[in-house]
Order: sequence, then C-alpha cells, then structure tokens
Amino acid sequence: GHKTIDELVRADEGLVSRSIFVDDEIFQQELRQVFSRAWLFVGHESLVPKPDDYFVSRMGTESVILTRDRQGQIQVMLNSCAHRGMKLCRYDHGNNRTFTCPYHGWSFSTDGKLVEKPGELVGVPGHATHYKGELDKKQWGLKTVAQVVNYKGAIWATWDPDAPPFLDYLGNMRLYLDAALDHRDGSPGGSEVIGGVQKWRVKCNWKFAPENFIGDLYHDISHRSVDIVGIGPGGGKGRRDPSATRSAICFPELGHGLLGRLPFYEEGPYAPQYARYPEVEAYFRQIHEQRERTLGSAMRVQLSVGTIFPNMSFHGRQPRTLAVFHPISATEMEMWRMYLVDKDAPEAVKEAARHYFLRYSGPGGMTESDDMENWTGATEASMGAISRELYFNYQMGVGHAQPVPEIPGCSVNGEYTEENARIYYRRWAQFMNGLSWDQLMAGSVRAE
Ligand code: FES
Repeated sequence: GHKTIDELVRADEGLVSRSIFVDDEIFQQELRQVFSRAWLFVGHESLVPKPDDYFVSRMGTESVILTRDRQGQIQVMLNSCAHRGMKLCRYDHGNNRTFTCPYHGWSFSTDGKLVEKPGELVGVPGHATHYKGELDKKQWGLKTVAQVVNYKGAIWATWDPDAPPFLDYLGNMRLYLDAALDHRDGSPGGSEVIGGVQKWRVKCNWKFAPENFIGDLYHDISHRSVDIVGIGPGGGKGRRDPSATRSAICFPELGHGLLGRLPFYEEGPYAPQYARYPEVEAYFRQIHEQRERTLGSAMRVQLSVGTIFPNMSFHGRQPRTLAVFHPISATEMEMWRMYLVDKDAPEAVKEAARHYFLRYSGPGGMTESDDMENWTGATEASMGAISRELYFNYQMGVGHAQPVPEIPGCSVNGEYTEENARIYYRRWAQFMNGLSWDQLMAGSVRAE
C-alpha cells in the first residue's frame, strides 16, 4: 500500500521520505495541489517594459504568457491555444499585438479596446464560411490566471480564485522580500533584470533548490573550492564576511524562510568589497548610506538568501538575484535566474554585477555547479527500489526554534539548523493533503 503524506513527511521528527523527490504519482499530485493553488512567481515587470511586450514563463509545468497589454496592465495567460492546444508563443519573448496560433490561425488579444476579457478570441479564419458564424468567440478565449499582482516589480499569479491576497500569503516574510525587490525603499527608478534570464535544466527534483535557499548554511562546505579560488563580488577571495553571523528565520505557518540577521539589528558599517572597481565601490557605499538614512530600523535587514513557498528564492543584498525552480518531472527541473540592478545605476556598476553573476550563479557559475552536482547526485541515488524507501534526515536543531516577539508569526533558530527545511516540508504536506485556504491560513499572522 501507499504511504500517506503524513507518513512521508514527519517534519516534527525531522524525517522526510525520499520518495517525495522521485515518485511520479507524488509529482502529479504536486502539480494539482501545490502548483495549481499557490501564488507563483512568474517574472519581473522589466521583462515586459512596453505595451504588447510578452515573456513566456512557466507556472508549474504549464507554459504561460506574461504580457503587458495596451492599457499597461500585466496579464498572465496559458500559452496554449483554445482550439487544439498548440503553443501560441514559441519564442522566449517578443512584442505582439495579437497572439496568432501557428496551427489553424486563431488569434487572441489582450487589448482592452477590442476585448472584454484579456486573452479573448478575436480572429478565426473561416468564421463566416467554415463555421457558418456559429462559433461563439467569447467562449473560446485563452485561460487566464485567477489572480495576478505586481508587487514592487515582481509578478505573482495563482490559478486559484479562492487563494488569499498575495500579501496575506506572504505574511511578514514581506519584510525580507522587500529587501530584495526594493532595497532602497521606493528608489526612484526601481530595479531591472539585466543580461536576460538564465535558464537551464537540472536532473534533480525541484524541491532541492528552494530547500537549499531557505537556510541551508550547512552545505557551505560544498563551496569550499569557490572560496579557495576566490570569486567574491570584487574578484577577491571568499564569498562572505566570516564575522557576519546570521540566523535561520522562518514563518512556520506560511512555509517561507531565510538566512539573515534579524530586523532591528544595526546593519553595520559598510564593508568594502569592490576595491578593484572604484566607481562600483563608491556607488555601493552611497547606496548603503542612503539605506541607513531612509530605511526604518525594520528594513535594516542583513539578508543573504530566502525562499517564498513553493519555488521562488532570492538573494536579498547586493548583488540581488531572483530565482525560480520549475518542475519538469519528478526528477528534473528547469532553473531560472534573474539578476536585479538599480535601473539608474551607472553602467560600470551594472557591468561589475553582470560579471559577478556570471562567475557566481547560473549554469556556468561556480556555486551553482556545486549545488547542481549535489542535487542531481541525491536525486539519482534515491531513485532505486531500496533507496526510495528511506528517509532524509532533517533533525538538526529540532525543538530549539524560538518565536521572535518583534515579528509576529516568525521563528528563529541559530545559524546552523534544519528548522527552515522542516517548516517548508510541513507546509508542502498541508498543500498535498488538500487543506482549505481557511485551514492553510489559520494561525498565520497577516501583514498589516
Ligand atoms: Fe490553434 Fe488550431 S490549435 S488554431
């Protein structure tokens, strides 16, 4: 017989079955229970700056079109023709007034002047002749998401009309996401993705990545070669300030978490790291001072990495990145990385950031290739009839998490702990068990 979700995920004991990382049935259930319901990150507004721009994204295994309509609104629609399912957009991005299907030529529009609903069917070859005018075009538009929000430039969507508002879903994790998206607290020009979106496939289960980013400092040992070679932001050795202690911070009811210093701590003096590039150094020093002047103490977050349940992660300090891990199958994912810079930053700063990203992250980046080997190795070595019956161990720090009084709904548990992974898999189990939104949000502390 099959094990139940509660038998597979025994988060309180720090046990998670390997089968949830390799099993095809579990994977199909994830697509229904997690990816069809949760708020998902679909891109950044700077990917579609002009009306009619589109960017082809994913929500779970579904291909979706992220587009800016002629009224300037962001729309997210299934990238699949309503007639016989053909992918409408076969390019990664572009600019289209209407989306015309290559198969039989149906066309769809988001222009509010032409249509009542985004994605409505506007053109059908032979509508008067072959269809005798009988096809009801209003019935055959593209499927659109139930809710979409642009939160500080990041676009989020859900297929579930009953999902709570995005900011409720985020709860007080918002403090930390803000540090990544809007690190100057409403900086005039905002942020933009530079150098395009890096995309690559990894033969591992998708959950390894968000789990890693939610607070696995313990795995730093696997990046030792990176520290020896030296690919710091300024080109020097080391990746992080060893004196900077962090804590694993998590939101147990919501499944989000991060590694960072708690808010209300001082951010500390500016630590020079771009000595080789004086212009870049000067820029980041000035940004640091600006943060100190303009941000309230609650935003003085020294943040490294974090995860928004289920599959979005980010680096919150300079250099800032957004990542999303798309499931392909139980044992394969597609990883996307976007690099955020201030739109109004000098060219030299953008260049230095771009070079840093290339050597640090992405398919050719040194840290990412270390991680990919670990995740593919762990997936492969858990696929057998014997190995899949075993449990992974997440027992570090069980029972030691403490609530953080200043941040309702928040817990903290030292620098090295697996508490954040446990709360992530507990959340995953709640979704997989089909809990209602009322149940899913019960006890959560909603952001003001
Ligand atoms: Fe798109 Fe037929 S599948 S028009």
